[in-house]
Amino acid sequence: MLSDIHLNLVGGSGQVNILRGVNLSVDAGETVAIVGPSGSGKTTTLMIMAGLERPSSGTVQVAGQNLNDMDEDALARFRRAHLGIVFQSFHLVPTMTALENAALPLEFSHARDARDRAMAALGAVGLEARALHYPAELSGGEQQRVALARAFASAPKVILADEPTGNLDTETGRRVVEHLFRLREEHDTTLVLITHDRELAAECGRQVRMEDGRLYEAATPGTAVASGTPDTPAASVMPGTPGDSGRA
Ligand SMILES: Nc1ncnc2c1ncn2[C@@H]1O[C@H](COP(=O)(O)OP(=O)(O)OP(=O)(O)O)[C@@H](O)[C@H]1O
Ligand SMILES: [Mg+2]
Repeated sequence: MLSDIHLNLVGGSGQVNILRGVNLSVDAGETVAIVGPSGSGKTTTLMIMAGLERPSSGTVQVAGQNLNDMDEDALARFRRAHLGIVFQSFHLVPTMTALENAALPLEFSHARDARDRAMAALGAVGLEARALHYPAELSGGEQQRVALARAFASAPKVILADEPTGNLDTETGRRVVEHLFRLREEHDTTLVLITHDRELAAECGRQVRMEDGRLYEAATPGTAVASGTPDTPAASVMPGTPGDSGRA
């Protein structure tokens, strides 16, 4: 899926190496939790998998297609056809109701029953009664559930979710997670979840840990995932070297 991904950005304080050789291979129908400290590069990795950020180098393959070769239009079409994305900050359209937000990807792909399917997805997260509310009229957790409903309403092959239960109480979080895993059972959906929730991470088939721009199999700390080049040893978990441009 991801092979030897590097992302270097040039900011005010010079070049920042945000991802330093990320390798991640996820099978269809697999559930993977990405865990790790704040600022380690989890969201950035997810954005690259979604084709929303382009890596400085490395190959991105999702659902059998190479994202490197696609232009913006092709990427947008690809996302519509195959991906459900739940952003850390939800990204709901403020001028649309919960129902309209949830139906958006289906409308884009001209699904005839967009509204019904969106309504069913809202029902799955317990929000039927809020369907006609605008995001500003919803609590943080409710907005998160709308974002989740939007992501899975179209039954995508792959769901990428950034802390999907981050704003939910235990009971609601449980319901949402159960629904995600039910999708996996019913549609063989691939789930890649970023989470700080240990229970949720433990429910996933596999956990990987992000540390300072690199990914490690969580079961064996210090072992780089499918370790790429010989110059990316376990030493990568050490704090930045003096020559480093001082990451945040
Ligand atoms: N556009 C940008 N320009 C410069 N640095 C950036 C940019 N976007 C992200 N970063 C930096 O990249 C690093 C990784 O960010 P990222 O959002 O991927 O972290 P994260 O692991 O998702 O953290 P959190 O758990 O807090 O959400 C951070 O140090 C962040 O400051
Ligand atoms: Mg993040």
